[in-house]
Amino acid sequence: MPGAIYAEGLVKTFGDVRALDGVDFDVPEGSVLGLLGPNGAGKTTAVRVLTTLIEPDSGRAEVAGLDVVKHPNEVRRSIGLSGQFAAVDEYLTGRENLQMVGQLYQLSGRDAKRRAAELLERFNLQDAADRTAKTYSGGMRRRLDLAAALVVSPPVMFMDEPTTGLDPRNRQALWEVIEELVAGGTTLLLTTQYLEEADHLADTIAVVDHGRVIARGTSDQLKDQTGGDVVELVVHEREHIPLAEEVLRRLGDGDTSLVEHTRKLSVPAAGGAKLLAEVIRELDARGVEIDDIGLRRPTLDDVFLSLTGHTAEDEAAGTAGEEDGQAGTKAAGKRAATEGDK
Ligand SMILES: Nc1ncnc2c1ncn2[C@@H]1O[C@H](COP(=O)(O)OP(=O)(O)O)[C@@H](O)[C@H]1O
Ligand SMILES: [Mg+2]
Repeated sequence: MPGAIYAEGLVKTFGDVRALDGVDFDVPEGSVLGLLGPNGAGKTTAVRVLTTLIEPDSGRAEVAGLDVVKHPNEVRRSIGLSGQFAAVDEYLTGRENLQMVGQLYQLSGRDAKRRAAELLERFNLQDAADRTAKTYSGGMRRRLDLAAALVVSPPVMFMDEPTTGLDPRNRQALWEVIEELVAGGTTLLLTTQYLEEADHLADTIAVVDHGRVIARGTSDQLKDQTGGDVVELVVHEREHIPLAEEVLRRLGDGDTSLVEHTRKLSVPAAGGAKLLAEVIRELDARGVEIDDIGLRRPTLDDVFLSLTGHTAEDEAAGTAGEEDGQAGTKAAGKRAATEGDK
C-alpha cells in the first residue's frame, strides 16, 4: 500500500524548463521525507503539485490516500502547508491570525486562544503578538507563517524550506515543534537546502537536482554511498592551496572541495589511512606545510558534492543566518538574485 505521500513519475514543465522530470517517492505514514536540493531543483514545484496548487503534466500523486488531481478539495482538508505562499492576514495581529486559523479548524475559542499563545511564545513573538502583521519584519512574518501552519496537527504536512532565513534560536524552536508534530503521528515532507537540517529531521532523504531524484536513502546510507572516508586538511599558507588541491585531485577518489576562508581542503578517500599517508608524503615533498590533517566520515555535504558537483554551501550561503533585515549586503543581494529566478 502506498504511504501517506506518494508520487510516481511526476512531470511538470514550464516552457522549456522541466521543473519535475519524473519524480517518485513514497513516504510511510508518520515519517519525515527530506527533499534536498539546490535552488531550482524542483522542490517547490513538487510541493505545489502535492498540495494541489498546480497540476502535473503527467504522473500520479496521492496524499493521505487521495489522488491530488482527482480529489483536490479532500486533499486540502487533510494537509497543512507552510512555505512560499503563506496566508497571513496583514490587518490582523499575530495573535488574531493564529486564533483565526484555530477557529477555522474548529478549535473551541478557548483552545484556539491557548494554542495561539503557546505558538507565539515558542516562536518568540510574544512582544509583537498584539501588533498587526503588516508591522512585522520579514523574519517575524516568516515565524508567524510557520506558527499558523502548526496551529493544528494535520495528518500530512508540507513545509517548503521552513528554516531558510531563520536565526539559530528560531531554527531550533522550529525543529522542536516539528519533532513533536511527527511524534504525534503526522507525516511530513520537508524541503531544505540545509544538509544539517535533513540530517537532523528526516527519516529518509531524496536528493533532487534538475527535476530528478538523483539519490535516496537514510542519511547514513547516503554517506556510505560516497565510498569510505574523506581526507581533510588545512594548509598553513594560503598560497599553497592550489598545490595542495592538485595533490588531492591526483591521489584522491573524487572531486576535491575547498573552503577558502579556513584553507580547508577535502577529498573522498576510498583508500583510507594508506591514502592519508601518501598525501602527507606528497605534500611534504612539495614543501606544503599543513596545520591539520585527518580522515573523517563523510558528511551530507560530501554526499551532495559527489552527486551534484557543487557544495550545498554554495547554494545556501545567500540565505544563511538572515533575520529581521540584519543581513549583510552580500547575503541580501544573493537572496534577491535567487528569488528573481523563481
Ligand atoms: N511558475 C513558473 N513559471 C516558470 N518557471 C518556473 C515556475 N515555477 C518554477 N519554475 C522553474 O522550475 C524550476 C524548478 O523551480 P522550483 O521548483 O521553484 O525549484 P526549487 O524550489 O528547488 O528552488 C526552476 O528552473 C524554476 O525557474
Ligand atoms: Mg523552492
